[in-house]
Amino acid sequence: MTPLSFSVLRILSDCRFHSGEDIAQALGVSRASICNAAKSMAASNLTLDRVRGRGYRMSRPFEWLDRDSVTEMLAEKAGRFDIEIRDSVDSTNSELLRENGPHGRVLAAEMQTMGRGRMGRSWLSEPGGSLTFSLAWKFDRGAGFLSGLSLAVGIALARAMASCGIEGIRLKWPNDVLYQFHKVAGILIEVKGDMLGPTLAVIGMGINFRLSGAVRENIDQAVTGIDSIPGKSPGRNKLLAAILAELSDILETFEERGFEAFRQEWCDRHAYHMKQVRMKLPSGKTEEGRVVGVSEKGEILIESSRGRLAFASGEVSLRGIS
Ligand code: ATP
Ligand code: BTN
Repeated sequence: MTPLSFSVLRILSDCRFHSGEDIAQALGVSRASICNAAKSMAASNLTLDRVRGRGYRMSRPFEWLDRDSVTEMLAEKAGRFDIEIRDSVDSTNSELLRENGPHGRVLAAEMQTMGRGRMGRSWLSEPGGSLTFSLAWKFDRGAGFLSGLSLAVGIALARAMASCGIEGIRLKWPNDVLYQFHKVAGILIEVKGDMLGPTLAVIGMGINFRLSGAVRENIDQAVTGIDSIPGKSPGRNKLLAAILAELSDILETFEERGFEAFRQEWCDRHAYHMKQVRMKLPSGKTEEGRVVGVSEKGEILIESSRGRLAFASGEVSLRGIS
């Protein structure tokens, strides 16, 4: 979507009809440009009604990310964060890595043009359909200490979703959030700094609300969004505030006590705890066994025919065996 498309979207997000001519006049551009902007919105799966003689209208309401409302909901915790919302960015993680933080900076984007997952994989979303943001957080400790961080952050996400009335959320080692074994969110943590510290962690999260058929087709695993989970959807601003509130507590505890403080809760929330799994290793080899827990460093512990094995997240993937 172009910057002009976002301006058109702002006008249309009241869900009323606006004629192409009125929009063009309000934005000081030609009607043909509005027509192109409407096409680019449609290509981004923002469905528009177009009625001859009346103009364009959004088919469903669009909730913009809103810094003031997130700040208000964060109440006394708001001072711990510096929130910016942008229409479009390549990747909120990439941007905070380029900017080197600073500590407490939150960048949320309506749209990412190059959202990333682990190991160079893509994270797909469309405007309004997901919550995509990153938080920069400085730790005094070295990178080695942060090995269980993505698991602890998963707990923040699961707790925040529960506090917003979303039931049945489970975690999947090391960085996925599932609803009934369908991926609803992912966490990407990237770290910069010395082995001995201090370290900058850029903590990125992508949470699906709504996925169009076109986006689903390009994802090679079972996925879902919050709007498909029974119950009332909290909306993106409310969920963002709830996640930041949980994160600020969890990150403080993590800095003091490491992942150990969250180990039991994490196992309780793990979708594959005590289940048979296959671990895919970077060499292409696989190991099978039963998940029996996680270590204090966030490694997954598997009971296999070769005895107990521990895997660090690195480039290892877990798959369930049904
Ligand atoms: P792993 O177990 O190694 O973490 P993964 O397949 O979940 O495996 P990630 O790197 O965590 O891999 O996530 C990236 C993957 O997530 C993509 O390859 C794609 O399969 C999937 N994906 C991309 N966009 C979305 C989305 N919006 N919702 C859910 N899944 C997505
Ligand atoms: C995964 O499942 O591999 C993690 C996906 C993380 C996606 C989020 S969206 C916000 C932030 N910016 C990115 O480019 N990636 C993370």
